[in-house]
Amino acid sequence: MNDSSELGENRGPFLALEGMDGSGKTTQVGLLSKWLISKNLKFTVAREPGSTATGEAIRGIVQESLDLNIPSETELLLYLAARSVFVQEVVVPVLDRGEIFLTDRFSMSTLAYQGYARGLDLTELHRLNNFASGGLNADLYLVLDIPAELSRERLALSNKEKDRLELSGTDFMQKVRLGYLDVSRKMKNAVVIDGTETPEIIHLKIIEILTREMPATFGV
Ligand code: TYD
Repeated sequence: MNDSSELGENRGPFLALEGMDGSGKTTQVGLLSKWLISKNLKFTVAREPGSTATGEAIRGIVQESLDLNIPSETELLLYLAARSVFVQEVVVPVLDRGEIFLTDRFSMSTLAYQGYARGLDLTELHRLNNFASGGLNADLYLVLDIPAELSRERLALSNKEKDRLELSGTDFMQKVRLGYLDVSRKMKNAVVIDGTETPEIIHLKIIEILTREMPATFGV
């Protein structure tokens, strides 16, 4: 795995948390942030789509405007449009300062949701992901894996308004899950974590992975 600091590059480490809706990413981003603060490490947290004014406006269209007809191709381009501004405005400046960047979702979401679940061509998606991110990818993807049924149950229990993708049903989420598992198997910088464990156990597992895979940054 690529520990940027160990390779002697100036670029900071780029971490992405991934997983289905309800997999606990947001909880883990919070726990990891507290841990990074306790280690005195400089970092920035963001989420996709969003984190820029343009990205939040796109988020409003693609996720919250439930009355709009949005074909899969349009949905893809909206997520990618949000990604390009996200990379330029938010990610690159942090990495250029040599600091840690932690994001709730990145390019792997596009493969799982628009590729495996919506059925868009994966080769094309790799190409477009690359275009949108200017060739930038996360150094490490932490993928929280839960069964589709648990995703549905957790979403049903939360008070949050369901967005367009969360309303897509269990079959859709099952495809998303299989997508994440398949992509993770093919990538050398992805680690799948059992998301059915308690938040504390998952957090410890994440720390263990970070200190193992990127010791120069996280092992201190
Ligand atoms: P999510 O990260 O779950 O945010 P919230 O906490 O507000 O629910 O929502 C993002 C949704 O966007 C999620 O359903 C997955 C979807 N998505 C894609 O389909 N493709 C993408 O490329 C990205 C980044 C997200």
